[in-house]
Amino acid sequence: MEFTEAVNRRRSVRKYDPNRPIEAEKVKKCIELATLAPNSSNMQLWEFHHICSKDVLQKMSGYCFDQNAAKTAQQMVVMVVRKDLWRKRVAAHVSYLKKVYGDKPRNEMSKRAKFAFTYYKTIIPVSYADFFGIFGYVKYAVYWLIGLFRPIYRQARKSDMRIVAHKSMALAAQTFMLAMADINYDTCPMEGIDSLRIKKLLKLPRGSEINMVISCGIRLPEGIYGERFRIPFTEVYKKV
Ligand SMILES: Cc1cc2nc3c(=O)[nH]c(=O)nc-3n(C[C@H](O)[C@H](O)[C@H](O)COP(=O)(O)O)c2cc1C
Repeated sequence: MEFTEAVNRRRSVRKYDPNRPIEAEKVKKCIELATLAPNSSNMQLWEFHHICSKDVLQKMSGYCFDQNAAKTAQQMVVMVVRKDLWRKRVAAHVSYLKKVYGDKPRNEMSKRAKFAFTYYKTIIPVSYADFFGIFGYVKYAVYWLIGLFRPIYRQARKSDMRIVAHKSMALAAQTFMLAMADINYDTCPMEGIDSLRIKKLLKLPRGSEINMVISCGIRLPEGIYGERFRIPFTEVYKKV
């Protein structure tokens, strides 16, 4: 399917056909494509929990307030933000960089290699490290002072870093939904959920956060609640 066709085809579907099952392997492939989404510092602070078990789907439906998109879902994908995994991701990057650039002393490294190591060994840990949110505010104040004199990155507080991680997860979510549209599978993103109960059900650690739950299936005609409504493009498009 052409990209534009897939974008147009994707709709939030609230009722799936109970007689048309979808293949878990195909959905898994779409999740694999979702991992190719751009993401902040390539930290990949995400997990995709693919729910296929009927029993878990039924519980999940209750935790999505039994809204139609959940009640009739054939499968679901829970998009989980794992900001808590940042140290593990830094370690993965450092060992990858050693493979790419070699494990040499710093003075023998190219400028690009030096920057890459500094980025993952120093800049990223400074960005992600926090102590009950206090260090975040200290960084925020320092950056703000420096920012009086020159442009500076300002995402320093714990809340800023949560947004950073959720942005990336949302891009993966959209990539997943478009990949599904491409194979004529339908989806509905849901944030009308009890995230705490879902975390308990999936035995997720305290530091994880649920970005959204995406229900999956094949649409019934009545599963689309009307024509697509968008604010006129001229109102949202600003050419500078
Ligand atoms: C983050 C997010 C959360 C959403 N939560 C829900 C939800 O809980 N239930 C629902 O039926 N639709 C939900 N939607 C779907 C939107 O209502 C839908 O995308 C919007 O109305 C535009 O329609 P379209 O997706 O068919 O273009 C959500 C969409 C997004 C992006």
